[in-house]
Amino acid sequence: MSGLQIDRLSMRFDLPNGTSVQALKDVSLDLQAGELLSVLGPSGCGKTTLLNIVAGFLAPTDGQIVLNGKRVRGPGAERGMVFQQGALFEWMNVRQNVGFGPSMKGMAKAEKAGIVDHLLDVVGLQDFKDKAVYELSGGMQQRVALARCLANDPDVILMDEPLGALDALTREKMQGLVLKLWKETGKTIILITHSVEEALLLGERLLVMAPRPGRIHKEYRLPFAEMGVGQDLRVVKKHPEFAARREEILSMIWDMEEEIMGRTEAV
Ligand SMILES: Nc1ncnc2c1ncn2[C@@H]1O[C@H](COP(=O)(O)OP(=O)(O)OP(=O)(O)O)[C@@H](O)[C@H]1O
Ligand SMILES: [Mg+2]
Repeated sequence: MSGLQIDRLSMRFDLPNGTSVQALKDVSLDLQAGELLSVLGPSGCGKTTLLNIVAGFLAPTDGQIVLNGKRVRGPGAERGMVFQQGALFEWMNVRQNVGFGPSMKGMAKAEKAGIVDHLLDVVGLQDFKDKAVYELSGGMQQRVALARCLANDPDVILMDEPLGALDALTREKMQGLVLKLWKETGKTIILITHSVEEALLLGERLLVMAPRPGRIHKEYRLPFAEMGVGQDLRVVKKHPEFAARREEILSMIWDMEEEIMGRTEAV
């Protein structure tokens, strides 16, 4: 069976002071291979926890993750992660960073060089392959992080706010790149973002989560990611349905934030 099943996942963190936090409760979702899912929700609703469980970094208190018919019991090369920033190896140059996974697998030098070259082409960094990480802009570093992830040829790419630290213009270009990679590689992608626009643009499916306990509040199937492949994303944003969905989801999240604030103030 292919695809990713998130099956009745719950996660409770027991704190040293004897209390506990229900970070996720009964979260279920089926992703087909090649689907692109964006996840939105107020701070603390369990987005990172969900991703960490899918990555195998955390074991859930209940439920399971099944990838291609096999239960996930820890990290694995078939699931690649792209973090918000700072996850590159500072002591390696661009080429070595991208080639890290293939090196670990013991791949022959020539084959590795071919893969690295190809991926640096895909992310537009061929001219920077001998640069050190500190010589790159934030956007370039994230492109290296994407290429490094792809070099492992994972089935699923997990991204936690991958574009969150970038300026608006670079971010828009990177959104286009994520769509291009999605279409060209056919990878299954889960992307967490705080930006409603980004979630709409990049989510073929969009999950809105609610906090305390972290759970699925609403799910959408959207046409914008498909529209955005090879098209100016600003044109997509002008679509009347895009504006309507943006307003709907903004109000939804605003209401949740208000409720959280109300509860905090009442304490
Ligand atoms: N290791 C941990 N120990 C205790 N509590 C934790 C731990 N990790 C997360 N939590 C709690 O679980 C809840 C969900 O956290 P999580 O980081 O998944 O939220 P998030 O949706 O990613 O938030 P943000 O948008 O701010 O990144 C929060 O209440 C958080 O305090
Ligand atoms: Mg988070």
